[in-house]
Amino acid sequence: MCGIVGYVGQRQALPLLVEGLKRLEYRGYDSAGVAMMEQNRLSITKSAGRISVLEQQLDVDGSTATTGIAHTRWATHGAPTEINAHPHGDASHRIALVHNGIIENYTALKKYLQQKEVPFVSDTDTEVLAQLIGHLYRGNLEEAVREALRDVHGTFGIAVVCADEPGTIVAARRGSPLLIGVGQDEYLVASDASAILAHTSQVVYLSDNEMAVISADSLHTTTLDAVPVTKEIQEVEWTLDQIELAGHTHFMEKEIFEQPEALRNCMRGRVDLAEGKVHLGGFADVARELTRARRFIMTACGTAWHAGLVGEYLLEDLGRIPTEVEYASEFRYRNPVIEYGTVTVAISQSGETADTLAALGEARQRGALALGVVNVVGSSIARETDAGIYLHVGPEIGVASTKAFTGQVAVLAMIAAFVGRRKHLSQSATQEFLEALSQIPDRMEKALENNAKAKAIAEAYADRDNWLYLGRGYQYPVALEGALKLKEISYIHAEGLPAAEMKHGPIALISDGMPVVVIATQGLQYNKIISNIEEVRARGGRVIAIATEGDSQIANLASDVLYVPDTLEPLQPMLTVIPLQLIAYHAAIARGCNVDKPRNLAKSVTVE
Ligand code: F6R
Repeated sequence: MCGIVGYVGQRQALPLLVEGLKRLEYRGYDSAGVAMMEQNRLSITKSAGRISVLEQQLDVDGSTATTGIAHTRWATHGAPTEINAHPHGDASHRIALVHNGIIENYTALKKYLQQKEVPFVSDTDTEVLAQLIGHLYRGNLEEAVREALRDVHGTFGIAVVCADEPGTIVAARRGSPLLIGVGQDEYLVASDASAILAHTSQVVYLSDNEMAVISADSLHTTTLDAVPVTKEIQEVEWTLDQIELAGHTHFMEKEIFEQPEALRNCMRGRVDLAEGKVHLGGFADVARELTRARRFIMTACGTAWHAGLVGEYLLEDLGRIPTEVEYASEFRYRNPVIEYGTVTVAISQSGETADTLAALGEARQRGALALGVVNVVGSSIARETDAGIYLHVGPEIGVASTKAFTGQVAVLAMIAAFVGRRKHLSQSATQEFLEALSQIPDRMEKALENNAKAKAIAEAYADRDNWLYLGRGYQYPVALEGALKLKEISYIHAEGLPAAEMKHGPIALISDGMPVVVIATQGLQYNKIISNIEEVRARGGRVIAIATEGDSQIANLASDVLYVPDTLEPLQPMLTVIPLQLIAYHAAIARGCNVDKPRNLAKSVTVE
């Protein structure tokens, strides 16, 4: 996720900013940059890759600048290159800006500025804002920023400097955190307290739609509409470690709890409830091919493959297109039949998984349209596709994939609605589906309230060496995902199954006290899954049910129940997976395992 740090005061700014950037490294980033006011001249230095690479290009100790802004970027619009890194400048080289968030209407703003002959150098939404501020600048930076933000739709936390006002930083926020650090004859600005905590623990938190203008000796806060606001100075009480984890004990826990926000970001600007439409900018050039597609093949590994399985059901349900899901490692070495009209979708968090990349290449070579559903912008898979949709769920640091799974399902749901609407789904049916999809983040928050109960269940059964996970229909991939989460971080053997398959062999495993997690939410196959629960109970298994809120009969059948809010059946996986992630997380802790770095596993599998 992107990070901002800025300084204005009496000290050399550059060493402070570089140190601040290093403090932000834990958030994940792919490029970085600084803008310094060197003797009334703006100097911008940026680089792709690590902060150490940027540092090599800077004269950190030699810089005399006492004002500057800096940024770590996690790419969303445009690949992680030096040109796309922040700070971005305007055409007159007077303005520099760093930005966290997404400017949703950047295409329209860019068109407007291009008509005014403003030249652009990067692919980013952020440069549009820098250019707009430059275009509107008439000798007052605060006014120009205010005016530009009036035209912006989307989210932002920004810090802006101007060569004509060398001792000033203008900061503003909407939907992306920003705080001002208060020092002795100096102020700092940051997206995250960890970046400035070494210098001050006194901070002012900006609220949405607020601005701050800081210089060495003044802090002036207003709303974006110029109404003065008096802000309270607060003391940061967290240590650096606590801040990095935002109060969580592990990145996996943090990422589980980030899911509602991650999904809001994933859907932002894409789900159009009023029109009953999905806007997928990445598919603009292939929309006709998608409408005419005769077959979809999803290819992926691990958790991403489970998301693909949900995608198969979604595309067949909503899009009425035959869809298959293939393990990338198998697909690449088979002799797959790729007929005319085949669309291949590679699903990958990292975008670097060797088998998925090779499977995509194989399908493409045989004539399939190659699409990507990827989290890391500019990654190898993203570069190899004909078109793609990014997850926008932010960096995933914990080895066990959590928010990427729900982000992948959300993107596949949007793709299914996108294709379905073009084929046979009515506007009202699409609207109903999108309405339910847009409510998922709030419902995830309710599902996360299961944390304490999930912990108690995990601790009660953490000593059992074999678990089963059962689901039907849309819950079958969730059963697989729940079992994978448990085995990879707690080293408990777990198997996920379509519940009806149990009778064809695995039922022999069920012995007295064996934990069997059954996803038994309301849906087409509810009665059948209840029969499966009876079968497990009859053999002494301990049923841990995941059920829909308001289900009054399930508590009589299961040993433990975790309730999730109701939603349309195709969207349930994004809610039912949450208690399973929580159970796995707490079971791993109960067994003393290293949750974020489980043994034998790497975050990105770049070899076969
Ligand atoms: C499980 C997990 C892995 C990945 C798999 C694919 O928690 O993280 O199963 O899902 O290695 O990785 P990506 O999505 O990066 O292609």
